[in-house]
Amino acid sequence: MAAYEHHIFTCINERDDCDARGCCALSGGLDVAAWFKAEGKARGWKGRVRANKAGCLDFCEFGPVVVVYPEGVWYSPRTQADVAAICDRHIDGGEIVTELLVPGLN
Ligand code: FES
Repeated sequence: MAAYEHHIFTCINERDDCDARGCCALSGGLDVAAWFKAEGKARGWKGRVRANKAGCLDFCEFGPVVVVYPEGVWYSPRTQADVAAICDRHIDGGEIVTELLVPGLN
């Protein structure tokens, strides 16, 4: 089996809502992970691109946080349209979606 062309990790880590660091589960990470899964099914990514849930990626203040490999590009998508843009332009189009980047990480 060949390695994946892209691997998408979405943080879904959950902390108590009084934790000063915040967490991706409370900032929409679960929805973002589900949207990537749905996009993958609709686009026929099986065996080529994999979308996984992840624990804390240590940039909690920018959550929900997503990292795409092999490029190592960090995104902070907030909406289903943001996820679709990453799928259209980065995963399928090879373009970095600059307006969704996590500031200072790329
Ligand atoms: S809780 Fe998501 S990056 Fe830390």
